[in-house]
Amino acid sequence: MPTIDSILKETRQFPPSEDFRQHATISGMNSYKGLCEQADNQYLPYWEGLARELITWKKPFTRVLDDSNAPFFKWFDDGVLNVSYNCLDRHLAKHADKTAIIFEADDGTVTRASYAELHRRVCQFANGLRSLGIAKGQRVIIYMPMSIEAVIAMQACARIGAIHSVVFGGFSAKSVQERIVDAGAVAVITANEGMRGGKAVPLKAVVDDAYGLGNCSSVKHTIVYQRTPSTPNQWQEDRDIWWHKLVEGQADSCEPEWMGAEDPLFILYTSGSTGKPKGIQHSSAGYLLGAMNSFRWVFDIKPNDVFWCTADVGWITGHSYVCYGPLSMAATQVIFEGVPTYPDAHRFWQMIERHKVSIFYTAPTAIRSLIKLGSDFPRQHDLSSLRLLGTVGEPINPEAWIWYHEVVGKGRCPIVDTWWQTETGSIMIAPLPGVVATKPGSCTLPLPGVMADIVDESGETVEPGKGGMLVIKKPFPSLVRTIWGDPERFKKTYFPEEFKGQYYLAGDSAHRDEHGYFWIMGRIDDVLNVSGHRLGTMEIESALVANSMVAEAAVVGRPHEIKGEAVVAFVVLKGPRPDGEEARKTVEQLKSWVAQEIGKIAQPDDIRFGDNLPKTRSGKIMRRLLRAIARGEEITQDTSTLENPAILQQLQEPAA
Ligand code: WT7
Repeated sequence: MPTIDSILKETRQFPPSEDFRQHATISGMNSYKGLCEQADNQYLPYWEGLARELITWKKPFTRVLDDSNAPFFKWFDDGVLNVSYNCLDRHLAKHADKTAIIFEADDGTVTRASYAELHRRVCQFANGLRSLGIAKGQRVIIYMPMSIEAVIAMQACARIGAIHSVVFGGFSAKSVQERIVDAGAVAVITANEGMRGGKAVPLKAVVDDAYGLGNCSSVKHTIVYQRTPSTPNQWQEDRDIWWHKLVEGQADSCEPEWMGAEDPLFILYTSGSTGKPKGIQHSSAGYLLGAMNSFRWVFDIKPNDVFWCTADVGWITGHSYVCYGPLSMAATQVIFEGVPTYPDAHRFWQMIERHKVSIFYTAPTAIRSLIKLGSDFPRQHDLSSLRLLGTVGEPINPEAWIWYHEVVGKGRCPIVDTWWQTETGSIMIAPLPGVVATKPGSCTLPLPGVMADIVDESGETVEPGKGGMLVIKKPFPSLVRTIWGDPERFKKTYFPEEFKGQYYLAGDSAHRDEHGYFWIMGRIDDVLNVSGHRLGTMEIESALVANSMVAEAAVVGRPHEIKGEAVVAFVVLKGPRPDGEEARKTVEQLKSWVAQEIGKIAQPDDIRFGDNLPKTRSGKIMRRLLRAIARGEEITQDTSTLENPAILQQLQEPAA
């Protein structure tokens, strides 16, 4: 692991205040250790206890773990439940009037929904879906702006047992189409438009474009939530229906579909090291247990807290800590439609003040961009409601951590740096805030019951300070069950032969310090982390070569001050290598091409043209060399085998 020596030594420690510790749900190191011991010694009874305590079962389970067909593990599999029942119905006796969601729209309009109201609206919409013939096990794509309706759509699918697959509203028509086809979706739930930063995002039009790309005949219905007054350009009467028409006259109660614990709750597509996104399939009970328990322990949630997770429902964070975790724990949460800098950089701080947010969960990339805009913005607001801060998505650099701690948290609020993945479904490694003395940049210690370790190629635990591969040595309830339609890829990717199929391989490299704290170093596969979002280099390369001008492309990452990593593409065109104005134009064309193929988030920051790409004798692209070039580093690799050394100079020059 060549990066290990470059890890910076961070020695500052921030224990929770005595007051925080005293009131925390998990209070003090001894309580934490007690739970870990319980999990270590009695692994299955530990999870069984949590599953009985937290989930309301229609029919309780009798088996905890079935590992007879490893790595296709089954948890609580003869139990029967409904996830939406657990998020809504069971709260009605005590919390009917409690605010479930405070929604702030892009333009600042605030809408609230109580648990009773959310329940009523989910029931009506679920009845609407049923009236269209949508039923248990069928797949439904959700392509929505951040809204109460997005949560209603997800909950309604869960209620009738339909498997939702949320596609982030920034993804392109091509990405929507690929997911429709892969999932064999019968319906798409979308909005006419979304609003972000004062601009309309034409979601329905993108869905129509996706249909136009072909192979979408599985889709029988498009349900369109009318977010703005505008009317869509296209409307196909036998397929498209307005949300408000669909729920008209629907009953406000709806018997849930009672589901087996292992019935899939959702599929969420994420990037891997091949060109094709993986449909990460999650279970009902195991997933819910993970989302719920981590939400209560890591965020130390109390009845009067106001929780705000800034993630979009298009990502796993928005599934576990917007849709399922907070609602299953009857919490009050803020949902925000817009962006942190609109109308100006006061927005986040204003919202924390206005809604008296007590727990704030965001991404390092957002923190870094807000730092750049200046500490004056947060300083002008009353942030005294905050008591706990969180981050997720990528390692947080210590400078950003300290700013978050001092300027936002005023030195009072613990910071939970939460490591997890789309595949793990819920937080795996994070400081329990009433327990762990945090260190800026470390996600610290695994939650009780998470058997995380760092191993070398032979599966042996590495010693402290040495880098290795992050693995989880025992299956746990919220783990991905399979890759939709591709169980072989699931096995190969996550439970590889090199570890005898025993360990879950996370795909990250990490090391542990002398206190056993985990420090995540980066990915071990061809995956980039851009603004906390996962992008496969192969995926961007496939998009580039799909352009008729492009003969060959290689994509690598380069450190970026705000985004964490920036995308750099090395491109060989079919025609001659362009320069000057022509190069500039080609760069713009290729950038918008990638935006159109995948989405704006995957757009290369930098495109370089060469007559060739540097390759080894066996024809493999020398990625390490390209990485050095992208970073503007001196080239130390052996380049003697290069066919055409002159291309190195070509590739070092930005095209435009
Ligand atoms: C990858 C998972 C989990 C929700 C957001 C991303 C990186 C995530 C951290 C953290 C260091 C982190 C890892 C991981 N990552 N959280 N706290 N510290 N790295 O979900 O798209 O599935 O990406 O994000 O590399 O493998 P995702």
